Amino acid sequence: MTTDSAFENGTARSRRSRWILLGSLIGLLGLIAIGVGVGVGVGVTRHNSNKSANTSSGASNGNGAASNSSASGDPVQSNPNDPSTFAKDPNLHQSFYALAYTPAGSQLPTCNNSLEDVIKDIQVMSQLTTTIRLYGADCNQSALVLEAIKQTKVNMGVYLGNYPTPDDPTAYTRQRDLIKDAIQTYGTDHILGVTVGNEFMLNYLNANGATDPNSAVGDTGAAILIADINDTRSALQGMNLDKTLPVGNSDAGSYFNTKVLEASDYGMANVHPWFANVTVQTAAGWTAEFFDETNVQPAAKLPNKPKMYIAETGWPTFSSDAGNANNGASDASEANLQVFLDTFVCQANKNGTGYFFFEFKDEPWKDVQFGGVEGWWGLFHSNRTLKRVTIPDCII
Ligand SMILES: *[C@@H]1O[C@H](CO)[C@@H](O)[C@H](O)[C@H]1NC(C)=O
Ligand SMILES: *[C@@H]1O[C@H](CO)[C@@H](O)[C@H](O)[C@H]1NC(C)=O
Ligand SMILES: *[C@@H]1O[C@H](CO)[C@@H](O)[C@H](O)[C@H]1NC(C)=O
Ligand SMILES: *[C@@H]1O[C@H](CO)[C@@H](O)[C@H](O)[C@H]1NC(C)=O
Ligand SMILES: *[C@@H]1O[C@H](CO)[C@@H](O)[C@H](O)[C@H]1NC(C)=O
Ligand SMILES: *[C@@H]1O[C@H](CO)[C@@H](O)[C@H](O)[C@H]1NC(C)=O
Ligand SMILES: *[C@@H]1O[C@H](CO)[C@@H](O)[C@H](O)[C@H]1NC(C)=O
Ligand SMILES: *[C@@H]1O[C@H](CO)[C@@H](O)[C@H](O)[C@H]1NC(C)=O
Repeated sequence: MTTDSAFENGTARSRRSRWILLGSLIGLLGLIAIGVGVGVGVGVTRHNSNKSANTSSGASNGNGAASNSSASGDPVQSNPNDPSTFAKDPNLHQSFYALAYTPAGSQLPTCNNSLEDVIKDIQVMSQLTTTIRLYGADCNQSALVLEAIKQTKVNMGVYLGNYPTPDDPTAYTRQRDLIKDAIQTYGTDHILGVTVGNEFMLNYLNANGATDPNSAVGDTGAAILIADINDTRSALQGMNLDKTLPVGNSDAGSYFNTKVLEASDYGMANVHPWFANVTVQTAAGWTAEFFDETNVQPAAKLPNKPKMYIAETGWPTFSSDAGNANNGASDASEANLQVFLDTFVCQANKNGTGYFFFEFKDEPWKDVQFGGVEGWWGLFHSNRTLKRVTIPDCII
């Protein structure tokens, strides 16, 4: 899943985390459709394509209710048939380097995502960032996101994701083919890279009773992943694209295998102060230091110097059980998400750190499946209303 500790040390919490991972593999029979994202958006210029959009209160939100976007969660369109005419919410600012995103309903076998829903997500996210990452490609999510970017005409780049599972080789090829289809249809203009693997090494090591990503067991898992990364690279090369798309990988911060990084153009590391049990007051500094020491410095020593990004960092606002409502140092709460936003976002921008804030909105399916804090990391509730937080206002 996505909210794992940046490291794993055999403690109760990490055992739980392991259970989550195994439970997810077994429970979903390798059919999980979430993906992993990687990379940082460069070369995407900012522009406002909706300057003339209508913000008058009382406009219809499409459900017949009179409201502003901040009240209903859904942006108001001055032309209901033109998703590019959505009104901007003055409470939102394009201050985030990037956001982690999974369209609702993108898990097999249910697969009930919808273009309409993704369009609304893109309308809101485009007011926070110009860059997003997906975790997987099942349920047509790459095409839905690219179609939504097209219809909303927003300035948005996306790292597509392929979420392979160690025990089911068809998961990789199925998603690769969906990604190829989406690229064929939409071109590469809004694609920043293709991320192959989400916590693949973490899952592989846990499933095989090992912890060191560079052990013999780690190298065995890495070979599977590297074959997929290489295959994606050749598939893209075979398409005669008008630009070369970087191919990368994403994993928990301390689970990168060196050979995997050597085969990747970029690496995306989950770095979670919550799971490291640090206080929210020290969370931003801890995140910066952990990422630099564990990911940035080691990657810089490799011959290919893969660019490193924080794939996920954030703070949960709620736990579905009392036992996980506090990480031993601070609570899961909106007040503490605010502290993390205020101490991390603009500071990381200033430092030039590429990060994907975790995450856009709450994910009810994760709460159903995993409980605890898993479903409650959104800046927004699942209905796209902003939580009780103030979005930082600074430049990237
Ligand atoms: C975090 O705290 C929990 C609960 O006390 C503990 O089980 C776990 O080992 C701690 N995790 C780390 C990474 O220190
Ligand atoms: C704003 O909405 C009003 C009323 O629906 C409409 O007359 C006007 O043309 C809209 N303005 C823009 C810029 O879309
Ligand atoms: C919309 O926002 C404006 C300005 O913040 C506010 O005055 C108005 O009451 C809001 N309307 C609704 C329906 O929430
Ligand atoms: C959105 O969801 C939140 C959290 O469940 C809820 O408090 C709020 O009333 C909802 N807003 C709308 C407009 O449905
Ligand atoms: C998809 O279906 C599940 C199960 O019926 C439901 O809980 C969920 O709300 C649906 N999601 C969407 C995005 O429609
Ligand atoms: C995937 O999404 C695109 C964009 O909405 C749509 O045109 C296409 O028909 C979808 N494909 C499938 C198989 O659902
Ligand atoms: C992956 O590609 C690299 C570079 O072309 C090559 O050295 C390596 O042997 C390949 N590995 C696998 C497992 O295909
Ligand atoms: C930014 O850089 C400073 C100086 O190295 C460091 O102390 C701080 O933790 C960093 N913060 C973030 C959020 O990257």
